[in-house]
Amino acid sequence: MDIKKVLVLGAGQMGNGITQVFASKNYSVVMADISEDATKKGLATIEKSLGRLLKKERISQEQFDSTLANITTTTDFTSASDSDLVIEAVSENKDLKFKIFRDLDEKMNKNAILASNTSTISITEIAAVTSRPDKVIGMHFMNPVPVMKLVELIRGLSTSDEVYSAIESTTKELSKVPVLANDYPGFIANRILLPYINEACFALMEGVGTVEGIDTVAKLGFANPMGPLSLADLIGLDTCLAILEVLHGDLGDSKYRPNPLLKKLVAAGHYGRKNGIGFYDYSGETPKPLSFNL
Ligand code: CAA
Repeated sequence: MDIKKVLVLGAGQMGNGITQVFASKNYSVVMADISEDATKKGLATIEKSLGRLLKKERISQEQFDSTLANITTTTDFTSASDSDLVIEAVSENKDLKFKIFRDLDEKMNKNAILASNTSTISITEIAAVTSRPDKVIGMHFMNPVPVMKLVELIRGLSTSDEVYSAIESTTKELSKVPVLANDYPGFIANRILLPYINEACFALMEGVGTVEGIDTVAKLGFANPMGPLSLADLIGLDTCLAILEVLHGDLGDSKYRPNPLLKKLVAAGHYGRKNGIGFYDYSGETPKPLSFNL
């Protein structure tokens, strides 16, 4: 299985990061989203990220130019139906993913591998809406994609050995480290991470500590690069809630119940860094920790 041309569905924070890493390793990448505004924003984020690397002399001007030259954008993914690999990176919504995979199955080349960057939705269930469950796999990148070394590879019930090994080699070619996870809610990363973030929300809600206090404990006490509330803002509070809802619903254990304050923040439009407000306010030079009416 020779993978040369890649289609990335979704130009948001995960999709544009995935596009950047493939393009920087000389894959030809088509980044698709539903509006031109979305693809333009995605491309601008990639240029900014590459610009940072150029300024620090981590890449040459030639690498900057060739990475961008490897990327095209579209609002109609069927223009890239001859791709060898598709990576779906749209929001964490089961029905949306099912609809997209039905469409991909119908319109993509019959040999194409269909991967999902889902953080928690069952790969087996996604695969079941297609006529090629053996060619469906989870390829879960971490945020920020250009920086984080891990890619969780999730085998659905029917993912073939051939597809797994092609995706494992591709992941290594991206200079990332693949780790196999079997298909249970949250896989490995979010099965561990989201209860931690959720518990930090309970600690905040119960007044055990402030936003800044909780994050400082994790940074200075556990040597984590960022605290759980700051990390939740990076992931997106809406995404954190969606993951917890899947963990809670599919594992049926009350320990995964989403924290009420997290739900309240999402309802109030606090999505985190992506819209400038979460547990912190990102409108100034440095993030400002917020306090809430509890
Ligand atoms: N794109 C590209 N590069 C980026 C970047 C981005 N969005 N954000 C940071 N960087 C780079 C910086 O340029 C810098 O590079 P150098 O070291 O080469 O100079 C490096 O990352 C460190 O960045 P900063 O100095 O600006 O800031 P920092 O030291 O505070 O690091 C961080 C920022 C990399 C985000 C770090 O805080 C970190 O690792 N945080 C934890 C991230 C994490 O846990 N991610 C996993 C989330 S879970 C997930 O994604 C799965 C899911 O399904 C929810």
